[in-house]
Amino acid sequence: MECVRLDGVGKTYDNGFVAVRDADLSVEEGEFLVLVGPSGCGKSTLLRMVAGLESITEGTLHIGGRLVNTVAPKDRDIAMVFQNYALYPHLTVFDNMAFGLKLRKHAKEDIRERVTEAAQILGLEDILASRPKELSGGQRQRVAVGRAIVRQPKVFLFDEPLSNLDAKLRVQMRAEIRALHQRLDATMLYVTHDQVEAMTMGDRIAVMRAGVIEQLDTPLNLYDFPVNRFVAGFIGSPAMNFFEGSLVGSSFREGEGGAVVSLTEAQVSNLAAGSGSVVLGVRPEDVYEVGAGAAAPAGAVRSVTVAPTLIEQMGSEVMLHASTPTGPMVARVARRPVLEPGESVDLAFDRAKLHFFDGVTGVRIPTGG
Ligand SMILES: Nc1ncnc2c1ncn2[C@@H]1O[C@H](COP(=O)(O)OP(=O)(O)OP(=O)(O)O)[C@@H](O)[C@H]1O
Ligand SMILES: [Mg+2]
Repeated sequence: MECVRLDGVGKTYDNGFVAVRDADLSVEEGEFLVLVGPSGCGKSTLLRMVAGLESITEGTLHIGGRLVNTVAPKDRDIAMVFQNYALYPHLTVFDNMAFGLKLRKHAKEDIRERVTEAAQILGLEDILASRPKELSGGQRQRVAVGRAIVRQPKVFLFDEPLSNLDAKLRVQMRAEIRALHQRLDATMLYVTHDQVEAMTMGDRIAVMRAGVIEQLDTPLNLYDFPVNRFVAGFIGSPAMNFFEGSLVGSSFREGEGGAVVSLTEAQVSNLAAGSGSVVLGVRPEDVYEVGAGAAAPAGAVRSVTVAPTLIEQMGSEVMLHASTPTGPMVARVARRPVLEPGESVDLAFDRAKLHFFDGVTGVRIPTGG
């Protein structure tokens, strides 16, 4: 069942700026849906509209089947966790978690029960009497989550809850929030600008750019079938390599000194129907070094010769950074003896893993696998 549903939702701020445009989105009951996109693309605006902290200019918002466009935040059955946690510094951990329940006039016993249970789930039992300034970043973050849990809301809303934590703690809290999602069987809408966080946490991910939801899909579908060049470049690290060129005969050609990739018949016929200029996309892990010994898949064809400008030994693999006529590229190749400076390498692209985008619109050109 749909828990949250947005139809054609838009937001125009008072100064005329359109922060969200025609957003269609539904979060299923029990789903963990992540909204991801670069800074300023409208993620917080969208989340705050769901929370009721920002008015909705256009479209409709349903929560649990009820139209809530003009319903006050406190009556929406949601709980939000903010980036800065927004804890009350003068209150103890217990009272911070209890605050919303007291406000809603829950019975004392009920409050104690709920706070105790949330504290157990989050491992906060021993610090219930502490104040926020005595806590670590991770503990504060847990208190903020605890405050949401005690409300037992229909939907949890998270706005970049991990961005104030150091890298290691972030990875740990990521796993904790996922585990919490399962344990509570909760519905969560989670905002981040970090695509790794999105990929690792989301059942589905909505990728936003400039106020528009560009694609809503499972992590693997986003990775394998990005609808346009923007999504292709945003999801994945290191990012997908792009080569700008065109179809010449039965090959993709980047231009003088650049990549030349002989294509399959299916790829050729699909590209031939397009506008002419083509962007070829290849993920770093789909590039192989020719003759380096490591087995390349059958679909790998010699595609470009480069002189790497930077060679990163990762231990298990090697990142080769180089330039081609239309931009930088990275190849994630098998471990190999160190290159001599200026030495060039031949690289093969896995033809079965190529992506194509229209050179003008950036829209994906399907080529039937
Ligand atoms: N009250 C406001 N009035 C006018 N413009 C606003 C207002 N609040 C936000 N904006 C603009 O709307 C756009 C979207 O802002 P929003 O905070 O939703 O982005 P975001 O995706 O959450 O970014 P970040 O990752 O940096 O948090 C931005 O360009 C911002 O400048
Ligand atoms: Mg934001």
